[in-house]
Amino acid sequence: MDVTDYLPKLKKLAIDSSKQAYAPYSNFHVGAALLMNSGKIFTGCNVEFSDYLALHAEVNAIGSAVNMGEKDIQVVVVYSTSSPPVLPCGSCRQKILEFSLMFKHDIQIIAFNDKSEQIEMLLSELLPGGEIKVDKK
Ligand code: THU
Ligand code: ZN
Repeated sequence: MDVTDYLPKLKKLAIDSSKQAYAPYSNFHVGAALLMNSGKIFTGCNVEFSDYLALHAEVNAIGSAVNMGEKDIQVVVVYSTSSPPVLPCGSCRQKILEFSLMFKHDIQIIAFNDKSEQIEMLLSELLPGGEIKVDKK
Protein backbone atom coordinates (compact mmCIF):
# COMPACT_ATOMS: atom_id res chain seq x y z
CA MET A 1 0.00 0.00 0.00
CA ASP A 2 1.09 3.54 -0.79
CA VAL A 3 1.84 6.02 2.00
CA THR A 4 -1.04 8.25 0.85
CA ASP A 5 -3.47 5.38 1.46
CA TYR A 6 -2.34 5.29 5.09
CA LEU A 7 -2.40 9.05 5.61
CA PRO A 8 -6.03 9.53 6.75
CA LYS A 9 -5.60 6.74 9.32
CA LEU A 10 -2.23 8.07 10.49
CA LYS A 11 -3.67 11.56 10.92
CA LYS A 12 -6.68 10.34 12.86
CA LEU A 13 -4.47 8.27 15.17
CA ALA A 14 -2.11 11.22 15.73
CA ILE A 15 -5.08 13.42 16.70
CA ASP A 16 -6.42 10.67 18.99
CA SER A 17 -3.01 10.34 20.63
CA SER A 18 -2.71 14.11 21.19
CA LYS A 19 -5.88 13.85 23.30
CA GLN A 20 -3.96 11.58 25.68
CA ALA A 21 -1.15 14.11 26.11
CA TYR A 22 -0.16 14.93 29.68
CA ALA A 23 1.03 18.52 29.35
CA PRO A 24 0.03 20.49 32.47
CA TYR A 25 3.11 22.80 32.20
CA SER A 26 2.87 23.89 28.55
CA ASN A 27 -0.74 22.99 27.77
CA PHE A 28 0.59 22.12 24.30
CA HIS A 29 -0.78 18.76 23.22
CA VAL A 30 1.09 16.80 20.56
CA GLY A 31 0.33 13.43 18.97
CA ALA A 32 2.58 11.39 16.72
CA ALA A 33 1.88 8.37 14.53
CA LEU A 34 4.60 6.24 12.95
CA LEU A 35 4.02 4.13 9.87
CA MET A 36 6.45 1.24 9.88
CA ASN A 37 7.62 -0.61 6.78
CA SER A 38 5.63 -3.60 8.03
CA GLY A 39 2.47 -1.49 7.69
CA LYS A 40 2.04 -1.40 11.45
CA ILE A 41 1.31 1.93 13.13
CA PHE A 42 2.53 3.15 16.52
CA THR A 43 1.46 6.32 18.29
CA GLY A 44 2.66 8.54 21.09
CA CYS A 45 1.68 11.74 22.91
CA ASN A 46 3.86 14.14 24.84
CA VAL A 47 4.27 13.59 28.57
CA GLU A 48 5.55 16.38 30.80
CA PHE A 49 7.25 16.25 34.20
CA SER A 50 7.94 18.87 36.84
CA ASP A 51 11.63 18.88 35.84
CA TYR A 52 10.43 20.31 32.50
CA LEU A 53 12.14 17.48 30.63
CA ALA A 54 9.19 16.39 28.52
CA LEU A 55 8.89 13.14 26.67
CA HIS A 56 8.13 14.29 23.14
CA ALA A 57 5.26 12.65 21.27
CA GLU A 58 7.66 11.42 18.57
CA VAL A 59 9.96 9.77 21.11
CA ASN A 60 7.03 8.21 22.93
CA ALA A 61 5.86 6.72 19.62
CA ILE A 62 9.39 5.45 18.86
CA GLY A 63 9.47 3.83 22.30
CA SER A 64 6.16 2.05 21.60
CA ALA A 65 7.43 0.77 18.26
CA VAL A 66 10.77 -0.46 19.57
CA ASN A 67 9.02 -2.06 22.53
CA MET A 68 7.04 -4.14 20.03
CA GLY A 69 10.14 -5.14 18.08
CA GLU A 70 9.63 -2.61 15.27
CA LYS A 71 12.34 -0.15 14.17
CA ASP A 72 11.93 0.39 10.42
CA ILE A 73 10.11 3.75 10.31
CA GLN A 74 8.69 4.88 6.96
CA VAL A 75 6.65 7.94 7.94
CA VAL A 76 6.37 10.16 11.03
CA VAL A 77 3.12 12.13 11.34
CA VAL A 78 2.91 14.88 13.98
CA TYR A 79 -0.27 16.64 15.03
CA SER A 80 -0.48 19.83 17.07
CA THR A 81 -2.64 22.94 17.23
CA SER A 82 0.15 25.41 16.48
CA SER A 83 0.37 27.43 13.28
CA PRO A 84 2.50 26.56 11.43
CA PRO A 85 2.23 22.92 12.55
CA VAL A 86 5.10 21.88 14.80
CA LEU A 87 7.83 19.77 13.21
CA PRO A 88 10.03 17.36 15.19
CA CYS A 89 12.63 19.29 17.23
CA GLY A 90 16.36 18.83 16.70
CA SER A 91 16.63 16.14 19.34
CA CYS A 92 13.73 14.16 17.83
CA ARG A 93 15.18 14.57 14.34
CA GLN A 94 18.39 12.97 15.58
CA LYS A 95 16.48 10.15 17.21
CA ILE A 96 14.56 9.48 13.98
CA LEU A 97 17.89 9.57 12.08
CA GLU A 98 19.02 6.58 14.13
CA PHE A 99 16.57 4.37 12.25
CA SER A 100 17.05 6.09 8.90
CA LEU A 101 20.75 5.15 9.09
CA MET A 102 19.99 1.65 10.40
CA PHE A 103 17.68 0.84 7.48
CA LYS A 104 19.51 3.00 4.91
CA HIS A 105 16.49 4.95 3.66
CA ASP A 106 15.02 8.40 4.14
CA ILE A 107 11.98 8.95 6.36
CA GLN A 108 8.99 11.11 5.45
CA ILE A 109 7.91 13.68 8.03
CA ILE A 110 4.39 15.11 7.91
CA ALA A 111 3.27 17.81 10.35
CA PHE A 112 -0.31 19.05 10.39
CA ASN A 113 -2.66 21.02 12.59
CA ASP A 114 -6.34 21.65 13.21
CA LYS A 115 -6.31 24.53 10.69
CA SER A 116 -5.82 22.28 7.63
CA GLU A 117 -2.16 23.32 7.37
CA GLN A 118 0.29 20.60 6.45
CA ILE A 119 4.05 20.40 5.97
CA GLU A 120 5.62 17.45 4.17
CA MET A 121 9.38 17.08 4.30
CA LEU A 122 12.03 14.41 4.34
CA LEU A 123 14.21 13.77 7.36
CA SER A 124 17.24 14.46 5.13
CA GLU A 125 15.87 17.98 4.53
CA LEU A 126 15.16 18.59 8.21
CA LEU A 127 18.52 17.23 9.31
CA PRO A 128 21.00 17.77 6.49
CA GLY A 129 24.38 16.16 6.95
CA GLY A 130 22.88 13.28 8.92
CA GLU A 131 24.22 10.78 6.46
CA ILE A 132 27.94 11.32 5.99
CA LYS A 133 29.28 10.08 2.66
CA VAL A 134 32.98 9.35 2.67
CA ASP A 135 34.92 9.57 -0.58
CA LYS A 136 38.09 7.56 -1.20
CA LYS A 137 40.56 9.98 -2.79
N1 THU B 1 6.56 18.65 21.89
C1 THU B 1 6.43 17.42 21.30
O1 THU B 1 5.95 16.48 21.94
N2 THU B 1 6.80 17.27 20.02
C2 THU B 1 7.27 18.28 19.23
O2 THU B 1 7.52 18.06 18.05
C3 THU B 1 7.41 19.62 19.79
C4 THU B 1 7.17 19.77 21.23
C5 THU B 1 6.09 18.83 23.27
C6 THU B 1 7.15 18.93 24.31
C7 THU B 1 6.43 19.69 25.39
O3 THU B 1 5.67 18.79 26.16
C8 THU B 1 5.47 20.59 24.64
O4 THU B 1 5.35 20.02 23.33
C9 THU B 1 5.94 22.02 24.52
O5 THU B 1 7.18 22.12 23.97
ZN1 ZN C 1 11.26 16.61 20.02
